[in-house]
Formats: sequence, structure tokens, C-alpha cells
Amino acid sequence: EPKRDLEGKKVLVTAGPTQETIDPVRFFTNHSSGKMGYAVAEAAAKRGADVTLVSGPSQLTTPFGVKRIDVTSAQDMLDQVLIVYGEQDIVIKAAAVADYRPVQTFDSKVKKQDGNLSIEMERTTDILLTLGQRKQHQFLVGFAAETNDAVAYGKGKLERKHLDAICVNTVGKTGAGFQSDTNEVIYLNREGKEQHLPSDTKKQIAHRILDEIVEDMEADRK
Ligand code: PMT
Repeated sequence: EPKRDLEGKKVLVTAGPTQETIDPVRFFTNHSSGKMGYAVAEAAAKRGADVTLVSGPSQLTTPFGVKRIDVTSAQDMLDQVLIVYGEQDIVIKAAAVADYRPVQTFDSKVKKQDGNLSIEMERTTDILLTLGQRKQHQFLVGFAAETNDAVAYGKGKLERKHLDAICVNTVGKTGAGFQSDTNEVIYLNREGKEQHLPSDTKKQIAHRILDEIVEDMEADRK
């Protein structure tokens, strides 16, 4: 029986990859399956929260009781997240958002030519940074996928993006990060907490992350 410690709370979760269009048949994306974010959404709903899941393209089924909004690009995700941001109590950004998109998108298929092809890329808007800058009462949690110096980079993102906490996963390890059913996370908060959540299923890791968030929110209120 899960605890009902998120009863009455509104929780926004983002999950999955984004797709950045080149032409009608091609796009840039990444290896995110959505599993981590969907697990967080499911766990929060079981604990009584009113959950909105903004999801990039994913094969996963919507967890029971969760309101899902489908998006494709980083810009779509930003637009949908901003619409509901103001009313949220907790925001957890597990999506793997593209940092770059093609400057130009073509209305018809790009034809093969002799020689090399270059595609110019421009930065997307950093959704998490935007949310950090507009933060009012929300408890804002980021994720970070790092291959090295995970804690140091995580702390940097926590500060720079005005987050309350960040979950760092070391990608490149087997059984952690993109696509696997398991993960290993370090939960960092503003007060210097550095909680190692040892390897477990993403569903269990999701509950452990929510435990940390609930504890931090209670501490904030004192
Ligand atoms: O989906 P799975 O297969 O289960 O894999 C899970 C996961 C590894 C994708 C997930 O646990 C994870 O780490 N997600 C964040 C991946 C990521 O994009 O990390 P980052 O270090 O590039 O970005 C840091 C944070 O900024 C993230 O919260 C990201 O959502 C956010 N961001 C990044 C770029 C951008 N334009 N806007 C953003 O909001």
C-alpha cells in the first residue's frame, strides 16, 4: 500500500525525448524511452497527487490516473509546460530535451547530392532554466545525464537553473540512465544534501526521489 503523502498536490512531470525536424521524413532525437519520467508520474499518482505528464514521443502506456499531454519538439514541450506551470506544486523534469535544432526545416524531403551535407543547428530554449527564472512557490526538480564528474556538473546545474533539487544519473554505466528498467541516482538539494539512491528499478527509484522531495518540502515549511 503506497503512502498518500502527495494528496492535494499538483505534480508536473516531463518525460521522453524530443524530436527536432529536418524534413518530412527526418529528425534529430536521443535515446530516452520515457521510462524514468513515466515511473515518477505513476508513483506520484499512486501517492495521491494530481499528475500531468508532458511526454515526448514514447511507446509507453499512460499510467493510471495521469493526465498526459503529447509533444514533439523542445519548443512544443516548453509551450505546454508553461501553460500549466503556474498551478503546480512540484515540477520534475525527467525529459531528455534537445539542446539544438536545425536552423532550417524543409517542407519537402532533402534530396541526395554529391559530396557532404552540413546542417546548421541553433540552440533550443532551456525549459528548466526558464522555469527556474519564473519560479514562485513551485518545488522544481531537474535531472542530469552525465558521463563524468556527475556530482560537480549536477551542482552547477542546480545553482545556474535555480532548482530546488536535481537527480543526477551517471549514464554510460550498464543498468543506469537511458532505456534500461533500472537506474542509479544521486539526489542533490540546495542545502547540500547528497543522497545516493542505489541501483533499483526505475519504479522504486521514482518512489525514493519522491520521498526526498516530500522530506525537503516539509523542511522548507519549518
Ligand atoms: O527516458 P529513459 O530511457 O528512462 O532515460 C531517463 C533519462 C536518462 C533520460 C533521465 O533520467 C534523465 O536524466 N533526463 C535528463 C536528461 C538530460 O537531458 O539531461 P541534461 O543534463 O541534458 O539536462 C539537464 C536538465 O535540463 C534536464 O532536467 C532537462 O530536462 C533540462 N533541459 C535540457 C535542455 C533544454 N533545452 N531544456 C531543458 O529543460
